[in-house]
Amino acid sequence: MRHSVRDLATAGVRALQPYQPGKPLSELEREYGIRDAIKLASNENPLGPSPLGIEAARRALADLALYPDSHGFELKNALSAALGVRADQLVLGNGSNEVLQLVTRAFLSPGDEAVVAQHAFAIFTTEAVSAGGTVVSVPARDWGADLPAMRDAVGERTRLVFVANPNNPTGTWHRAAHLHAFLGSLPAHVVVVLDEAYCEYVSEPDYPDGLAWLAEFPNLLVSRTFSKIYGLAGLRLGYGVASADMADLLNRLREPFTVNSLALVAGEAALADHEHVRRSRDFNLQGLAALGAACQQLGLDYIPSVGNFIAVDVGRLAGPVYEALLRRGIIVRPLAPYGMPRHLRITIGTPAQMERLLSALPQALAG
Ligand SMILES: Cc1ncc(COP(=O)(O)O)c(C=O)c1O
Repeated sequence: MRHSVRDLATAGVRALQPYQPGKPLSELEREYGIRDAIKLASNENPLGPSPLGIEAARRALADLALYPDSHGFELKNALSAALGVRADQLVLGNGSNEVLQLVTRAFLSPGDEAVVAQHAFAIFTTEAVSAGGTVVSVPARDWGADLPAMRDAVGERTRLVFVANPNNPTGTWHRAAHLHAFLGSLPAHVVVVLDEAYCEYVSEPDYPDGLAWLAEFPNLLVSRTFSKIYGLAGLRLGYGVASADMADLLNRLREPFTVNSLALVAGEAALADHEHVRRSRDFNLQGLAALGAACQQLGLDYIPSVGNFIAVDVGRLAGPVYEALLRRGIIVRPLAPYGMPRHLRITIGTPAQMERLLSALPQALAG
């Protein structure tokens, strides 16, 4: 009997849903014959990469014949100094996505459970399912993760709990006291992944720095990225911070050269580019306020966000509005795959990009 190659894959891989990334600009321009399209679909930094990061990457081009430093010694030292953690608490990744994958592979065996919130970042589920785990999705409350309900969903078989603070695609976030109480309530056999991909954008006084809790919770891993405020999504660089024991486990599992030499030096330079970070944060705060106000004017509900994006309820199935925006050369992200069929997620762009979006949106909503 002939087997389909699909039958030969592990159960976890067969159960996977493909990730749907934001449509690349080149694809839209090819498909629709459009020029000058804009992308507000992947929560990238509209100001671009840190200029210092670009310069560092340019200088490193001449050495591309050499393998990168597999341990990322200098970047780890820079992160250690900037974050106030020891270098042996760090694990670097090809994007923070790789860190999420490593922690899942390290702690989730087939049949184990991972607890996630409804509307949580999709990759949590992808990683857990591909490791053969069972995902327990806990209904959200006001679009955000319901931490007490997630605690109640933790059982004997739970090995991982994922929380994004703030979460993508909802932009919702947890106050320090709530999150701390949640971490303290979890049994010792559970590893918590606290995804802080957007933390640098948040300026709420009550927003916690997960790194401050690492000494108290040895089962905590905090993941962060250079893809968002640092503007280096194309280079793929992220990191995890945890107890030295957990970081050691993940570093053993990690393949040697997943972080390339341009990412290592650009990341180090971008980390020190405080001016670029400050500008990006200020721009974003203005953009969030402007988009929120525009939604109100258009009579559209939206989920208040502390990230660099807003999930907007377009008042009906969002697919046709998404398509209408595409035809006008604007890519946003439809959230049906997140169980939010009426929402579009819009990344905060430059003022010019936002103006273009806001002038196209009323027509797109009209059909
Ligand atoms: C919440 C969250 N975590 C992690 C990531 C992964 O980002 P990267 O792999 O580029 O670091 C993203 C990307 O959009 C995200 O939104």
